[in-house]
This record gives sequence, C-alpha cells and structure tokens, in this order.
Amino acid sequence: MNAKIIGTGWQLPAYEADNDYLATIVETSDEWIRERTGIGKRHLVREETTTSLAAGAAKKALENSGLRAEEIDLVMVATITSDTDTPSTACRVQGELGALNAVAFDINAACAGFLYGLHIADAFIRSGIYRNVLLIGAETLSKLLDWTDRSTCVLFGDGAGAAVLTASEKGGLIARTVGSNGGKWEVLSCMGRPNQNPVCKSSASAGYLRMDGQEVFKFAVKTVPACIEKTLQDAKLSAEEITYYLLHQANKRIIQSVAKRLKQSEEKFPMNIEQCANTSAASLPILLAQMNEQGRLHPGDKLVLSGFGAGLTWGACILEW
Ligand code: ACO
Repeated sequence: MNAKIIGTGWQLPAYEADNDYLATIVETSDEWIRERTGIGKRHLVREETTTSLAAGAAKKALENSGLRAEEIDLVMVATITSDTDTPSTACRVQGELGALNAVAFDINAACAGFLYGLHIADAFIRSGIYRNVLLIGAETLSKLLDWTDRSTCVLFGDGAGAAVLTASEKGGLIARTVGSNGGKWEVLSCMGRPNQNPVCKSSASAGYLRMDGQEVFKFAVKTVPACIEKTLQDAKLSAEEITYYLLHQANKRIIQSVAKRLKQSEEKFPMNIEQCANTSAASLPILLAQMNEQGRLHPGDKLVLSGFGAGLTWGACILEW
C-alpha cells in the first residue's frame, strides 16, 4: 500500500508585515529583500499560536479529505516552535480536533520537517501499522528571531499547512530520499533555554536563530538538486516527467538555481515566497494546499517535494497525485 494525500489545508496569521514595514525596524529596504530573496511580505502572529494555526490547517485538510477526526490513526506536527516544551503540539492539536483514536507526536527537523513527516507516514502506511495519517507543518518562527538582526529577521514568516494521507493501492508516494548532517549543526541553530539547576547555573541566555546565510545557500544549491536527481533515479523517472517541483520556500534564487541545474523551466517550480516568506516546516504543505485549492493538481500528476534546513537536514520525495 502506498501513502496517498487525499486532503490538504493551510492557515496563515491575519497580520501581514510587508518589507517597507520591516524597513522601519531594521536598516533594510524592499529592494534589497526582493532582489536577494524574492520575499515581499510575511504573515506574523498576534493572537494566533503554533497550535491554533496547526489546528486551523488540520481542520481544513480533514474536511477536504472527507475523513472524520476519529478515523485518524496518527497525528504528526513538524515544528521547531511548539508553544509548549511538553506536551507536543501534535497532542494539543489531537485534543482540539477530537482525533482521540490516534497516536500523536512532533517532528523536529526544521525546514525539512514536512519531508521527514512524509517519510514516517509512508513507512507506517506501507508496513500496515496505520491507515490514516494527519501530517501538519506549523511554525511561529517570529518568536525565535532577533528583530534587531536584519540578516535573519527579514527572511521568515509564520503559518501552517496540513495533509491527510491514506493507504492506497495506486499512486501516492513512490520514491523518497532523506538525509542529515549533524556535523554542520552550527551553520543554522537556535539555542534552547539555559540550565539553571543548582549545580550548573549556566550564564547563557535563551537563544535567537543564528545563521550563516551563505553556507546555507551553498548547501541548498548543491544538496537539493542532488537529492532530487537520486529520487528521480529511484523512481525511474526523468526530470521532464515531473509536472511540478515544490521546493521549500527559503529563497527565490535557490529555487531558480535548482531549476537551472535540473534543466527545467521555472514555471514548473511554483512559489509563494513573495507572500509568505520562509515558514520553515510549514512552507511545503502551505504551497501544496494552495495549489490544490487553486485546482492546479490533477490525478496522475507527478510532483517532487523537497525541503532542507537546520540540522542540517534535507529530503525529497515523488508523489503521484
Ligand atoms: N537588508 C540590507 N542589507 C542586508 C540585509 C538586509 N536585510 N541582510 C544583510 N545585508 C547586508 C550584509 O550586511 C552585507 O553587507 P556588507 O557587504 O556591507 O557586509 C550584504 O547585505 C550582503 O550580505 P550577504 O549575506 O552576502 O547577502 P547574500 O546575497 O548572501 O544574501 C541571504 C543573504 C538572503 C541570507 C542568503 O545568503 C540566503 O538566502 N541564504 C540561505 C538562507 C536560508 O535559506 N535559510 C533558511 C534555511 S531553512 C531553516 O531551516 C530555517
């Protein structure tokens, strides 16, 4: 049995912050941000939380799938910005949805989190352990950002996307590649809460997201196409046979570089980075759900999904819609 996506949903916070607004906070400009990244604006939470965005996207995905919450066997949330250290966001979403027959846990793999989640869902569905899986990518990255650091605060946004997967004899996920390199964890990181136990008393303070942008850029333009090429090989498909390449929305220039390397037209690489910026684990499922809603996905279409991020982590998969 293959893991097939039968429903999608997305949710963004109501508040939109455009580049001109950010230029009132840090020394930057709409021109610099657009030219270097392709980002025009981002949604930032005011009242919303990672849990509320995740639950909102999940409710829409369930409705779109035609399944009831009680029919879900597994709820996974890919996130690095859970509202609570414990319980997981997945448990809180499970409670909110009433998906009480499911097991629920979070996945921490940064911007590759949704890809890792697809990999896990695929393994559980193939093995016959679970039949119906709700996979969510949800982030409020804005709370990890140093809003005085122009090299990171302009890049990210908040949001959530979700997909319902079920066991299917035909189509669905047909090939996958995932990887990580913990040797490079310092390239992109955010330190957690310091330990204040009586024998440790760390002098460190809670961290903000820190990134060597150029290192991440180089990693992405090298690893992503290689990972996609391997996945195409495993599926015995050529790059031409793919209808759309949905890439993690980190930087327009990274996406253009991958298109060039694969010798494919940029039209096959849909983007929403202009409106959403980088929403980490939420970026792929938001893009997928928006395309589904717009009626751009048709039965038989072959889609490549690929994500990469802190860890370092990366992955690609091929789905037959
Ligand atoms: N506005 C204006 N100037 C800026 C800004 C800004 N927001 N940010 C940096 N600059 C300046 C720098 O200070 C530097 O100035 P200098 O030359 O006087 O020193 C200049 O612009 C050039 O900076 P670079 O870092 O060389 O710019 P670059 O072209 O590399 O673009 C960027 C930076 C956009 C961060 C790029 O490296 C990138 O996109 N990297 C990948 C990042 C990424 O994908 N991260 C997410 C990974 S996913 C995850 O898991 C979270």
